[in-house]
Amino acid sequence: MCGIIGYVGEQSALDVTLGGLRRLEYRGYDSAGIAVVGAGALRVVRRAGKLSNLEKALAETDDGAVVGEAMAGTTGMGHTRWATHGGPTDTNAHPHTDCTGAIAVIHNGVIENFTALRSELFGAGHELASETDTEVVAHLLEAELGRPGAGELAALAAAEGGDGGRHPLTEAVRRVCQRLSGSFTLVVLHRDFPDVVVGARRNSPLVVGLGAGETFLASDVAAFIAHTRQALEIGQDQIVEARRDGVRIIDFAGEPVEGRPYHVDWDASAAEKGGYPYFMLKEISEQPAVLADTLRGRLSSDGAIVLDEERLSGEDFRDIDKVFIVACGTAYHAGLIAKYAIEHWTRLPCEVEMASEFRYRDPVLDRSTLVVAISQSGETLDTLMAVKHAREQKARVLAICNTNGSTIPRESDAVLYTRCGPEVGVAATKTFLGQVAACLLVGLFLAQARGILYGDEVGAYVEKLQRMPDLVARTLGTVGPVRELARSLAGARTVLFLGRHVGYPVALEGALKLKELAYMHAEGFPAGELKHGPIALVEQGVPVVVVVPSPRGRAVLHDKVVSNIQEVRARGARTIVIAEEGDHLVEPFADHLIRVPATPSLFAPLVTTIPLQVFACELALARGLDVDQPRNLAKSVTVE
Ligand code: M6R
Repeated sequence: MCGIIGYVGEQSALDVTLGGLRRLEYRGYDSAGIAVVGAGALRVVRRAGKLSNLEKALAETDDGAVVGEAMAGTTGMGHTRWATHGGPTDTNAHPHTDCTGAIAVIHNGVIENFTALRSELFGAGHELASETDTEVVAHLLEAELGRPGAGELAALAAAEGGDGGRHPLTEAVRRVCQRLSGSFTLVVLHRDFPDVVVGARRNSPLVVGLGAGETFLASDVAAFIAHTRQALEIGQDQIVEARRDGVRIIDFAGEPVEGRPYHVDWDASAAEKGGYPYFMLKEISEQPAVLADTLRGRLSSDGAIVLDEERLSGEDFRDIDKVFIVACGTAYHAGLIAKYAIEHWTRLPCEVEMASEFRYRDPVLDRSTLVVAISQSGETLDTLMAVKHAREQKARVLAICNTNGSTIPRESDAVLYTRCGPEVGVAATKTFLGQVAACLLVGLFLAQARGILYGDEVGAYVEKLQRMPDLVARTLGTVGPVRELARSLAGARTVLFLGRHVGYPVALEGALKLKELAYMHAEGFPAGELKHGPIALVEQGVPVVVVVPSPRGRAVLHDKVVSNIQEVRARGARTIVIAEEGDHLVEPFADHLIRVPATPSLFAPLVTTIPLQVFACELALARGLDVDQPRNLAKSVTVE
């Protein structure tokens, strides 16, 4: 939610920040803006709408000069917005400036006490132009830096850049942060301090990129990956002062702290479209390779499942008597699948909860509870808050995450990374498969840690899992007819999805994909619930997608779903049936039959999800929609 980049170095700040914003736009696309400091001036350009509007504005001429060309300087910052406070207008676009136009601020998050701060600032004579919460920060900084009697700051200003002194802008940011509540990443520039960019964070992402003679601050590494793969994690409640030759970090109390350096293990090409017209199409096609990466090297030589980070002992895991899974959206659907595997393999009770609800209902947690937090971005605020709540209650937390250096893994006791590489399309596809595979590994890990499954049994499951990338590739090879079918349904008003057992979360995921990409009414139901109400939605021609369980699994479940298909068909539904190869019993009742390879029951979502991703993507394209940046959405939801 909101993409941020700050830069200080030797290149054109405009070029670097625009390049960064192109890679960050998936985080929000309601408006975009840039500020550059150079030649004694701070210049800001911002526009409502997508980044292309800002680019057009930069190419326009003003007073005979091209706007962008006048923005010379090697220190700057850029922002792409997902609107929270104030609509997506030019005035509400970031960066925001103070009354003097010397200070510029960009922000991701929500400043919850902004109303009180705004009144205070109005009372002190400040003029605020926008409806945003962010703008108060620029004016609070103005007040800090220009406050009568701020002798300390003035003295520090005189020593600007001196080795021992804390930069006045850094100090002002620190003081302002102490007054803010809510969540925020801030990046700040000052006209009179052209060699420094200051960033701060609380419950919102901020990473540093360390280049040769240049330093970047960004919401995620994608912003600077074209320049450097050396990154530094910034902890909660910390402030980073960035200069060309590196950074100094302090906490909100002013104490120096160290960032954790890490190397980004993917390069800029991973975040390019690679010949595909949309990232989503590329990401769907990457799934066999991604799944193989998630599963690679998970079994140690002595047959034990290997997590990526483990700050808990074997005894801690043995003592667990209950599992909660917390996640949002697609990650929540992966969690629903995990429940079946975890309960089956470990015999532990497992509850799956939307992270946004979890902490507000006061769940019963203690040190023998394991909370599994699933998050692609590692920054989803609802999930992060659930993790914090769990830890406050002494529960153990295991994170399943795709993003190295993000907050949720840092706040957890153990981590399993999904290693899917960057996912730029706003709709989760490959990371869902990575999450499902990771959940299965966690189930096996817990079963092994608790002594319920022996090493050889776990090894046999892992071996079967490792065959899944090939089956995913085979599934992708046969989805051509799904595309045709999706195009033929571009005019449908509603699509229903039914599933049972692990097919139920797949139905939910199919419906979510269709809603977010094609803006259509779509709902997923457990097939068994149909008769308890949803069947009233079925009328002549309504497409109903049914995810059929394997007849080789629990035959009784398979037969019940076949009955459900007949029930909706008898009421006029157009049935779209996803069934395993060789399942002939479904044939008479399927208006459209989509085949997937046979798999062990618990692994089936890894193949049954794929036609649904393709279906939603193709249907949205047939409706002329942008599948990478669906309306109103953002990739990483860093506000509650
Ligand atoms: O980064 P996270 O996995 O925590 O994100 C959770 C959801 O916001 C995310 O899965 C969202 O539902 C997807 N855009 C759906 O495609």
